[in-house]
Amino acid sequence: MRRKVIAGNWKMNMLPNEAISFIEQFTPLVKDTKNEVILCVPYIDLFYSLLTAQNTNIKIGAQNMHWEEKGAYTGEVSGQMLKAIGVEYVIIGHSERRQYFAETDETVNKKTKAALSNGLNPIICVGETLEQRENGTAEEVITKQTKLALEGISKEQMENVILAYEPIWAIGTGKTATSEDANNSIKAIRNKVEELYGKETADEIIILYGGSVKAENAKELFSTTDIDGGLVGGASLKVDEFSKIVSA
Ligand code: PGA
Repeated sequence: MRRKVIAGNWKMNMLPNEAISFIEQFTPLVKDTKNEVILCVPYIDLFYSLLTAQNTNIKIGAQNMHWEEKGAYTGEVSGQMLKAIGVEYVIIGHSERRQYFAETDETVNKKTKAALSNGLNPIICVGETLEQRENGTAEEVITKQTKLALEGISKEQMENVILAYEPIWAIGTGKTATSEDANNSIKAIRNKVEELYGKETADEIIILYGGSVKAENAKELFSTTDIDGGLVGGASLKVDEFSKIVSA
């Protein structure tokens, strides 16, 4: 049985003092959940968040990383650096990074490899635009993104990979994919994983849905056959709302 994973993506929100107080309030609300709870926080909040979340069931992740270990890359943070302070997860290839920061399938693949070789668990995002959905190429787009992200990743390494299906038109817009549509897209991604790695890996891989997940739609989304949890943006900034999603 695949575990359920609920990951918050704070994006460029939360000052360190806000991160600390969020985690302090959030901890008692999620302490008994069987689901895995991850908060992906801005770089500046990582250390504070790790300290505050020590001895809790809350895991901390970053939202991006560079693929090189070190060197002349002003402003970048490497996988080795994240690992050194105790970060366990890292979001790779979020659509906002693809859209605004020139992230490509190639850099997504390089970052995925670097994350895994540093012992981090990548949460790799794929998703189609509204135009692609409307012209019927959504499935082709997301399965291609999946294949390219995973190029050169071994079957053993796949045990540490999480995928997230995030239709771009549903992110931050209040429009959620219907649970049926989201489940079908995730099935298509799972079939691609089966084609690449076999049935066992496809049955085990965690695939999240992201895009306007809220307390009121979480339960329906998470009780489908193939959606293993959520990657939650806006709603992860509110302690009450996010704890309800975790218990959904
Ligand atoms: P949203 O963002 O929940 O605010 O739509 C999801 C995401 O971008 O990961």
